[in-house]
Amino acid sequence: MERLKDKVAVITGAGSGIGRAAAVLMSREGARVVADRSSDGAEETAGLVEAAGGRALPLTVDVTEEDSVAGMVAAAVTEFGALHVLCNHVGGTDPRKDLDLLRMDMDEFDRAVALNMRSTLLGARHAVPHMIRAGGGSVINTASVAALVGDVLQTSYGAVKAAVVSMTKSIAVQYGPQRVRCNAVAPGAVVTPALENNLPEEVVTSLKKGNALPYLGSPEDIGHTMVFLASDESRYLTGQLLVVDGGMSMQSSAAPGRRAMLPR
Ligand SMILES: NC(=O)c1ccc[n+]([C@@H]2O[C@H](COP(=O)([O-])OP(=O)(O)OC[C@H]3O[C@@H](n4cnc5c(N)ncnc54)[C@H](O)[C@@H]3O)[C@@H](O)[C@H]2O)c1
Repeated sequence: MERLKDKVAVITGAGSGIGRAAAVLMSREGARVVADRSSDGAEETAGLVEAAGGRALPLTVDVTEEDSVAGMVAAAVTEFGALHVLCNHVGGTDPRKDLDLLRMDMDEFDRAVALNMRSTLLGARHAVPHMIRAGGGSVINTASVAALVGDVLQTSYGAVKAAVVSMTKSIAVQYGPQRVRCNAVAPGAVVTPALENNLPEEVVTSLKKGNALPYLGSPEDIGHTMVFLASDESRYLTGQLLVVDGGMSMQSSAAPGRRAMLPR
């Protein structure tokens, strides 16, 4: 399988969770670059990529700092000679501080803007010129189903992920003529360290009930979608949001209760 043959991919947040899964899956298809804030995480992911027969460059980056992002992209191009794919994957908020409107920690709001929006913009801003030089490319932004619905908490998270969806469309429109595609993935509940460390067991159980499918997602479920978006199989797809959520966001809120009433 060489769906990403000869492509160079930078994946931020590849030191754990979904980003790591995407890096390993992409490595089965071509060369890649791994970047992450924690150098241990990046080194570990690079080890997994190489064990799977791929090539990886572990880098330490802070995606909220423009110089750091510029350095990451430059290092990728120096090492592999080009850049075709960028996964702007780092994001999230601290659910203990990202609360409702009245109790919102405003420092956390600013951090959310930097970690999700600013990082997405910076990554694309530095990667797109190399993609144009390479004759085209694919920017893949990580949004969330939180961008699509209102919630009682995590006000910032929903808002910044909705902004990621908006930026995705603008980038797609602006650089489509140069064959640079830009799409976003909206994961639903995915079992990663971020989910396991931040959410109490009862919330995880309620998330499962909210899905049409009887299970939560794995990092690989999202990684496979990213491989598709990185590959030329999706060459006619741009400016879109692919919702990969086990049916969570399309299911009627009445469905779990009605399902419980169905004859077994
Ligand atoms: N896990 C889920 O259920 C879920 C659902 C929807 C969306 N998402 C989104 O997926 C993305 C990652 O989620 P995950 O569950 O894989 O998270 P994760 O915590 O497992 O991984 C995040 C990675 O980002 C790195 N990172 C954090 N801050 C950084 C910075 N400033 N610079 C560079 N690297 C940094 C961390 O070191 C870590 O390796 C986020 O954008 C998140 O909003 C996750």
